[in-house]
Amino acid sequence: MRAALAVILMMLMILPPSGAYAVPERGVVYQVMVDRFYDGNQSNNEPFYDPTHTSYRLYWGGDLEGLTEKLDYIASLGVSMIWVSPLNDNINKMAHGSAPYHGYWTRDYKRIEEHFGDWKAFRRLVEEAKKRGMCVSVDYVPNHSNPATDGEFGALYDNGTFVTDYYRDTRNATVNPITGIRENLYHHNGNIFTWSGIPLKYANLFGLADFNQLDPWVDSYLTEGAMLFADSGACGFRVDAVKHMELGWLEAFYLRLYSKGPLFIYGEYYSLSPERSDDLYELYRYSNVSPVLNIPIRENIVRTFGFVGSLETLSRTLEDYYSLFVYPNKQLNFLDSHDLVRFLNAAKRDDSVERFHMALALTMTLPGIPVIYYGDESYLVSKDGKGDPYNRPMMAFNNTTEAAHIIRILAELRKANDALAFGDFRTVYANYSVWAFERTFGSHRLLVVMNKGSPVNLTLNLEWSDGTYHDALYGAKMSVSNVKASLELPHNSIYVFHVEGEQKEPLIGSVTPYTAKPGQRILIGGAGFGSGGRVIIGGAEARVLSWNSTGILVEVPEVRTQKAWLDVVVETGGNVSEPAKLRYYSGNDVPALLAFNASLVNASLSGTLWIRGSLPELEEPRPMFKSSTGYYFTVVPLPQNVTFSVELYTGSSWGELSPLGITLYGKAGKTVLLDDKPPIENQISSTMPTTTIVHRPIGENPLPYLLASLLLLGAALIIWKKRG
Ligand code: NOJ
Ligand code: CA
Ligand code: CA
Repeated sequence: MRAALAVILMMLMILPPSGAYAVPERGVVYQVMVDRFYDGNQSNNEPFYDPTHTSYRLYWGGDLEGLTEKLDYIASLGVSMIWVSPLNDNINKMAHGSAPYHGYWTRDYKRIEEHFGDWKAFRRLVEEAKKRGMCVSVDYVPNHSNPATDGEFGALYDNGTFVTDYYRDTRNATVNPITGIRENLYHHNGNIFTWSGIPLKYANLFGLADFNQLDPWVDSYLTEGAMLFADSGACGFRVDAVKHMELGWLEAFYLRLYSKGPLFIYGEYYSLSPERSDDLYELYRYSNVSPVLNIPIRENIVRTFGFVGSLETLSRTLEDYYSLFVYPNKQLNFLDSHDLVRFLNAAKRDDSVERFHMALALTMTLPGIPVIYYGDESYLVSKDGKGDPYNRPMMAFNNTTEAAHIIRILAELRKANDALAFGDFRTVYANYSVWAFERTFGSHRLLVVMNKGSPVNLTLNLEWSDGTYHDALYGAKMSVSNVKASLELPHNSIYVFHVEGEQKEPLIGSVTPYTAKPGQRILIGGAGFGSGGRVIIGGAEARVLSWNSTGILVEVPEVRTQKAWLDVVVETGGNVSEPAKLRYYSGNDVPALLAFNASLVNASLSGTLWIRGSLPELEEPRPMFKSSTGYYFTVVPLPQNVTFSVELYTGSSWGELSPLGITLYGKAGKTVLLDDKPPIENQISSTMPTTTIVHRPIGENPLPYLLASLLLLGAALIIWKKRG
């Protein structure tokens, strides 16, 4: 018996740590600018150090050791994930009058900046955070390295070995005959001069040396650099400037990172308005691959609370914005950031702090994962100025404020109430100064009510059971009788009422990540999962790695399909959940330059040219750029050597796409030149049935575990016999 127990124990120790991942929607992110947080090691402060903390463009001493020292403080706010500013080794010179204290001017993607620490310090941060129930996501900057015209002039190192700089790279740069882009390891097309089209992705952002991610060396280098963080325990990445990179390259990059586990990768797509522009359409396209920060709605929130504006208008804007995401709850809400003027620096009102509390609570209850910018809890502002770099003052630690109370209470509620994590979003009532919205997820409910005007007695239609409900933040009361809720709302108040019933049937709230290839592990978050059952993805059964009533870890099966989005369902106790969505990739995808000669399109086009094709990677329409050399092109992750066809369409971002009646064919590789004649040697994949399912988990090989278990069993038996 003892031996059998010992064997089971040892087997548990060698099995993959399947249950070690957290569902991101149940958490809160805390954003830290490392240099401005806490100085835990004064020996790494020089050069370019300002001990007086007056020059905002110099280092102020913060580091990984300091951040580690302050983990108890961060944990006291109920935070689950820390987003650290970029940690990679930055240039050792000033550029444009600034030191790279912010971390966005990388020179070596394999090393840690010496002002911040080293890999050991990073691993220690991760371990200590884990002990406190938190994980660490790292800001990663694969669009560009450092300024091309100052400082170290785009100097690049590979774990300490010099590779090139922007000017050496220019000498070997050539014009790509297909894209018309001048490139080597970097792009050489000047600065971004128009914020759309080819320049947006292939020119330098504010003079920063722009990577050619399709170069095989750059592609591997940037991937290996990110892998070092994942291997050191990072649970995710905030990816900088995604708007300036081809989505197709990012897809391939993310898919490779996900081989490390269900990481939480979210992108910075900088777009300040929720108006339905081409830019906003692109934001949604990017969000269909990986979550993005909700930058477009942030200004609307600040304006409505920090200045003037109608809550009714805001409610409509937000409902429209969220309605277009496949996973609105996985995008990230924030009030303040290192790029925008802090709310309390921007707001011009006597009651700014009260309005800040309201906006903060709103940000934490809207669909999406909240991000708290360091110092939001302690009303940190800069007296010296407003935006970058003044929105990055030295941290003031105070977790006893009302703001800290709001953060802590709502972070705790988020862990317990799935309507906060996964709920829908419905306005119950709105006028200029009052807004009530409801969020529901199965048996969990939430009602957020706010009033920025004169005190009111409010009666709402609300289908909650009769009874008295208590607001989580201040203990205010709401009574419900015959589907009518009544409550008193003082001036500048916000209340959060909630219900947590038992969820009996399976209900999926989210899938992490929602981009998947066969063999990859994904985490299904939700409720009512019981203690076991089956998960079916695109019709195929997935291998279950761990299962509890609120989270399931599975391995994505291979599915023969041409669909981009597959249904995920959970079966348990004789019940089947509603389907959730998973963006599926064939596997072994490489970032491919997909192009065809513009002469193949005879029609003169009004609008953009789009393609859709016979692979999951091509099912969602993709816009094409037209090059100066006479080609249409884009970047797509494609499964090597697979033949496929595409159909051409024309149209605008938000409109209908009209087919041009043109079919082109290709075989996937690094560069694919499409042709109007089908390849003869291979059957093209469009002739494959779309629903035939092949279940063949190809992820972790179970053989080593089996062999190791057998060996351990043998050893345990021998020991037992000897003792007996
Ligand atoms: C966006 C970051 O948030 C910003 O702070 C940085 O300067 C630019 N990207 C360039 O990396
Ligand atoms: Ca230091
Ligand atoms: Ca770029």
